[in-house]
Amino acid sequence: MSDEPLVLGVETSCDETGVGIVRGETLLVDAVASSVEEHARFGGVVPEVASRAHLEAMAPTIERACQQAGVRLDDVDAIAVTSGPGLMGALLVGVAAAKSLALALGKPLYGVNHLAAHVAVDQLEHGSLPEPTMALLVSGGHSSLLLVPDVTHDIRPLGSTIDDAAGEAFDKVARLLGLPFPGGPHIDRVAREGQVDAIAFPRGLTRPRDLERHRYDFSFSGLKTAVARWVESREAAGEPVPVADVAASFQEAVADVLTRKAVAACRAEGVDALLIGGGVAANSRLRAMAQERCDAAGVQLRVPRPGLCTDNGAMVAALGAQMVRRGRTPSSLSLPADSSMPVTTVLA
Ligand code: KG4
Ligand code: ZN
Repeated sequence: MSDEPLVLGVETSCDETGVGIVRGETLLVDAVASSVEEHARFGGVVPEVASRAHLEAMAPTIERACQQAGVRLDDVDAIAVTSGPGLMGALLVGVAAAKSLALALGKPLYGVNHLAAHVAVDQLEHGSLPEPTMALLVSGGHSSLLLVPDVTHDIRPLGSTIDDAAGEAFDKVARLLGLPFPGGPHIDRVAREGQVDAIAFPRGLTRPRDLERHRYDFSFSGLKTAVARWVESREAAGEPVPVADVAASFQEAVADVLTRKAVAACRAEGVDALLIGGGVAANSRLRAMAQERCDAAGVQLRVPRPGLCTDNGAMVAALGAQMVRRGRTPSSLSLPADSSMPVTTVLA
């Protein structure tokens, strides 16, 4: 038997009910039930629908995870759960489930930060994280650039979006182009047929004046508006909208700003590893551009496989296992859910 901690992680901050089990840095199982299809017709996640779906999926997903991993709940050394940030009602379902497990099994409980878990998950694929690591987290709910000296207790936010999240911009632009929700994968697909320089869309917060105050911040709402205006003007002129060119040019603008700022931060802070996580990390153009720019800057790029980039329970378990390894004090059983938990609070 290994003496690495066996940890069960629960994630319910948005629309994925995730239950993962890891032993140290080894992934045993990653069971996910998504309610994304129930939200599709609304064009975005409906919190109350997500909460109810978590309630229904929680017990079966825990059972499925244990079965697939060949693990009995009794064998688990600790329970980890996302305690924030995220949708309040959704978080509460996971926190209540995790507390019940911890109490019933008499095992320690770790209430962890969702963003930190997006960083920690990479250890399941690429081994221990370099310390420090630079992390770019881009999803439907967040866009942050973080300096991570120690993922279990020292995360320093360098910048974040001042308006829309990167994934939100993908979803909104997809909607404008008549593509289904969530839009990111569809834009990625149709962009392959388009020209990246067909339309010069703006790069938010990259002018010298912006850089003074927002060196590592992002803004995507101006880009989204620019795409909307461009599409409207074509339609008003009775001309067809070249969907592939719009998608490719938009995607290029997002990937350009994200990778430019992330690599600049690595250089300025003397960090030689960049990790990209969150659903948008699945984007093929973002990955390719990040690889080119990291190679040119002598920075090692780490991107977990797409299934580990989107929300899942394994990421929470991975961070929980690090907490156990490093002897961090477990959370209290009165652990609250915190919808706006700051990233500087890694363990509640
Ligand atoms: O991390 P995630 O599953 O959930 C949260 O939002 O926390 O991220 C979902 C987001 C959606 O906005 C989706 O459109 C985007 O990730 N996404 C992508 C791609 N795959 C998913 N965006 C761009 N390109 C993709 N290939
Ligand atoms: Zn997330």
